Amino acid sequence: MDRIRLVGGNELRGEIPISGAKNAALPLMIAALLTDEPLVLTNVPRLADVKQLERILENHGVDIAVHGRRRGEEEGVGQRMTFHAADIVDTTAPYDLVSKMRASFWVIGPLLARCHEARVSLPGGCAIGTRPVDLFLDGLQALGAEIDIDEGYVVARAPKGGLVGATVRFPKVSVGATHTILMAATLARGTTVIENAAQEPEITNVAECLVAMGAKISGIGTRTLTIEGVERLHGATVAVIPDRIETGTFAMAAAMTGGDVLLTGARPEHLQAALDVLAGTGVELTQEANGLRVRRNGNGILPVDVETDPFPGFPTDLQAQFMALMTMSSGISHIRETIFENRYMHVAELVRFGADISVNGQVATVRGKPQLKGAQVMATDLRASVSLVIAGLAAKGETVVNRIYHLDRGFEGLETKLSRCGAEIERVAG
Ligand code: UD1
Repeated sequence: MDRIRLVGGNELRGEIPISGAKNAALPLMIAALLTDEPLVLTNVPRLADVKQLERILENHGVDIAVHGRRRGEEEGVGQRMTFHAADIVDTTAPYDLVSKMRASFWVIGPLLARCHEARVSLPGGCAIGTRPVDLFLDGLQALGAEIDIDEGYVVARAPKGGLVGATVRFPKVSVGATHTILMAATLARGTTVIENAAQEPEITNVAECLVAMGAKISGIGTRTLTIEGVERLHGATVAVIPDRIETGTFAMAAAMTGGDVLLTGARPEHLQAALDVLAGTGVELTQEANGLRVRRNGNGILPVDVETDPFPGFPTDLQAQFMALMTMSSGISHIRETIFENRYMHVAELVRFGADISVNGQVATVRGKPQLKGAQVMATDLRASVSLVIAGLAAKGETVVNRIYHLDRGFEGLETKLSRCGAEIERVAG
């Protein structure tokens, strides 16, 4: 199994191109199931999760093509891909494919809307809590679907004539359930209103893609989405938004090591809460024409308290990285994780660097230290793994991060991007 070996202590200096967002690319790919015409996506990141979803879509009968770079397009701008679901040949998403990635469960919405039936294995994904699917099932039932659970599969059937528009009020904000009901509603008969919808920029990216495909949606970017069902959707060409979690991760890496990094293509408005917190730690952030500059020269890192929240709050997907940063602050920071109940698995690994962290329920208390020391650590989930890389970049001496397949699920070219900015980092095979 591959490992990452790094030697900490270098400041990061240079430019890092921000890739397309994994969490937008995945639902956009799934939206291709809604039409028999080709959906072209640009800026698709090269990630293991994208590959995995390709396998799932191919199993449903989607033709997938990757196109070369267009003249004038820079290297590293992501892939241009076509997804063509002319015929859905299979409405089952099997266990061996779905269990590797939770987002693949979301195919249930488009399959049910277009084919009026779906049989989808209950999902897997990062082990960061129980992550149930009750909100998905309640929402689909509100649209008229009949749902059974059979041998680990959700078996869903639409009424005769297809799904029917309804009001769906989520008791809790869920990104995946919002994507799923939104997609399902585009082809339902009548009007659907989603109340307490997730407002993440990735939802907006998907909603705008659906509109480009002929869907009628209002309230995009707000807590209430209204969808008027249409008979069919058509093809479109849509760009995946830049990854705000990757942006925040590199910003925190630069904050931790010191230095001066330009994150090209970054959209600061997609992570304002996290940037406000970073500014509070003493980092200098400047929006420039082609990206976000992050600078910390000489000053120490100030402690800041943080609570994770749905967008526009501080993202749970940056919690582990921020905790890594706080291990070297000049005081005490409290971090409250409110989205997932088991998202502190990185704590035990950060402690191996000499960090002082204690957890009490939802709250982690981090007592900053002037210096961490390199260590052998284990990646436990996607975002946790990158927090270990960040800690290693700032720690004294050598760090080895084991089990890095988690990193390849969500970060495109991580070592290359960091080493171009002066980090001593390499992938060790085997
Ligand atoms: C998505 C993101 C993930 C991010 C998370 C929260 C993708 C591919 N993944 O995951 O990176 O960490 O949003 O921002 O976009 N819940 C229920 N019942 C349900 C569904 C969810 O109780 O039916 C709960 C979950 O257990 C969790 C909370 O709702 O406590 C939020 O989860 P959700 O927003 O659904 O996360 P994902 O869509 O899986």
